[in-house]
Amino acid sequence: MHGVWGNRWTFILAATGSAVGLGNIWKFPYITGENGGGAFVLVYLVCIALIGIPIMIAEVLLGRRGRMSPINSMHFVTAEANLNKAWTGIGWMGVLAGLFIMSFYSVVAGWALHYVVTLASGVFEGTTAEEAGKQFSDLLANPTMLMLWHTLFAGMTAIIVAAGVTRGLAAVAKILMPFLFLSLFILLGYGVAKGDIAAGADFLFAFRFDKLSAEAVLEALGHAFFTLSLGMGAIMAYGAYMPAHASLAKTVITVGILDTFVALIAGMAIFPIVFANPSIEPGAGPGLLFVSLPIAFGNMPGGLIFGTLFFVLVSVAAWSSAVSLIEPGVAWLVESKKLNRLNATFIFAGIAWLLGISALLSFNVLSDFTPLYLFNRTPFDFLDFITAQIMLPLGGLFIAIFVGWLMSRKILVKEMDAETHPLFDIWLIILRFVSPVLVAVVMIFALYKILFSS
Ligand code: TRP
Repeated sequence: MHGVWGNRWTFILAATGSAVGLGNIWKFPYITGENGGGAFVLVYLVCIALIGIPIMIAEVLLGRRGRMSPINSMHFVTAEANLNKAWTGIGWMGVLAGLFIMSFYSVVAGWALHYVVTLASGVFEGTTAEEAGKQFSDLLANPTMLMLWHTLFAGMTAIIVAAGVTRGLAAVAKILMPFLFLSLFILLGYGVAKGDIAAGADFLFAFRFDKLSAEAVLEALGHAFFTLSLGMGAIMAYGAYMPAHASLAKTVITVGILDTFVALIAGMAIFPIVFANPSIEPGAGPGLLFVSLPIAFGNMPGGLIFGTLFFVLVSVAAWSSAVSLIEPGVAWLVESKKLNRLNATFIFAGIAWLLGISALLSFNVLSDFTPLYLFNRTPFDFLDFITAQIMLPLGGLFIAIFVGWLMSRKILVKEMDAETHPLFDIWLIILRFVSPVLVAVVMIFALYKILFSS
């Protein structure tokens, strides 16, 4: 059994450290851009509220009940409820999803590290959209460079996981979050002053439902899981350290609100810059952040220092997220296979690093490698797709069914510490009848289209 964190806020900080990362600052703006804006954002927000938060409460509850690594926590709650051992599969699939996500996450975090150095070097002083675009495509065309940064980031993550200082993450988040908020607000200020704030706001918040396909709805749903670190055991692993009497609902809602806030501000900072520069398309893809922000930094007073600092913050946010991607697998190896932490970390970070090579080659050597068995995607896009749009929602669906339908009400009431609270009944009803149904319907419709209409 684990030790327990001091109080609710320590959990909130660590969970926010895991949740807030590249998903909010890099992925949310770029997939919003690709999917036409407003309607996609609305669907994403609905998914956070009706699916993400209720299932996140359930996932943290499982971790706190089991008080071990996700695989062993699932083992415990499965045995406690007298269920078939196959339910432990939620933990296994999570470990695999964590490896897959880490592999491409580390590549993108590598881009952020590279941008720390590039911004500090001053090459973006007075830059234009064309120059910024060229800088980024030059980076993508250089596998050696990508490899260097990918390796550095995977190594940095391994060091923290090996040291086993999951708790130190709360301290990181405590310093990081305020600075991250502050710098996003400053960028927002630049957008208001120099960008096209009206076009940016219109793009993000005006609903153009005609642009919304079934695939886009699945992408929004998948992103709700991705951005909350939900559906693979990361948040379950953190829940294992949560004090017994801290309120689950209040805690999780706080994390969800903080996470959503960071994503929306990032979007509001980036799109005004995008629309003020006609050569940048909102649907530019994974490079959107890396092409738009250097323009702002290159053309604002103090941009050299501020831009460098911003990418340091993004890198640290990615770092505190990445730790939670391999922690579940490492914790299991240490707990059940009696491996020491260093070796366990080496194995997991090593596998993710190897897989990551296919992700970084997707932008150069393998850019035309889109075989049918990767659903016509490059390895990078496939790893993103199979995790965010399949494994995480599936993990969440099983968690909702397990907690909502199969665990005894007595245990739920005890864990929720809320016999008299009307919120408990509302949560349970949503967890039983709304979240799993929505996840299943969206997955069936969208996957049907993806599989049979291309
Ligand atoms: N939520 C993080 C982000 O938005 C990424 C992440 C960390 C994650 N741990 C996770 C995603 C677990 C899914 C599952 O950047």
